[in-house]
Amino acid sequence: MKDELLAAIPELREIENEILRDQCVSAFLDAMHIAGRTPAELAEMPFTLLISPCSISFVDHTRRVTRTALAIAEVLADNWQGEDAMEFDRDILLATALLHDVGKILEYEREPGGNWRKSECGKLLRHPVSGAGICMKWGLPDRVVHGVMYHSHEGDGNRATLEAVIVNHADFLNFEPLKLKYG
Ligand SMILES: [Fe+2]
Repeated sequence: MKDELLAAIPELREIENEILRDQCVSAFLDAMHIAGRTPAELAEMPFTLLISPCSISFVDHTRRVTRTALAIAEVLADNWQGEDAMEFDRDILLATALLHDVGKILEYEREPGGNWRKSECGKLLRHPVSGAGICMKWGLPDRVVHGVMYHSHEGDGNRATLEAVIVNHADFLNFEPLKLKYG
């Protein structure tokens, strides 16, 4: 299962710190185990139920948000050389972007007919909450838990790190234009 996950989301391999990389993989595998999902199903599961039908999968979205976040961070660092406020931690950014929606694995489930809907867990705990819980369970650094917990509306007014701010924007850049056109 681990090899399938790494093949589906190769950006996980870009995390240089081995402990952090393993914690990220464990968090994904745990969420998949709890929900009974395979990596192949994550490549079918829509990344949102707010656009229907949605042809963009959880895997596609996670990878796009990660690449968008890295691109934003690199441009900021280049534009603001010497400014500490714009210096980012690449591993923390990667882990936060890769895990920001890990809770969606618990938030969505398949209906008997094959369509996707909110799970019982998802009706009570939105994915930032369940995702942060999974991240804490696997010992991810507080900066990553923070970015996962506050990447969406729950974080408005509460984001306290550059990495969390970047992932929030990268996420919505990969959602709002699609919602405008197809939502
Ligand atoms: Fe997202």
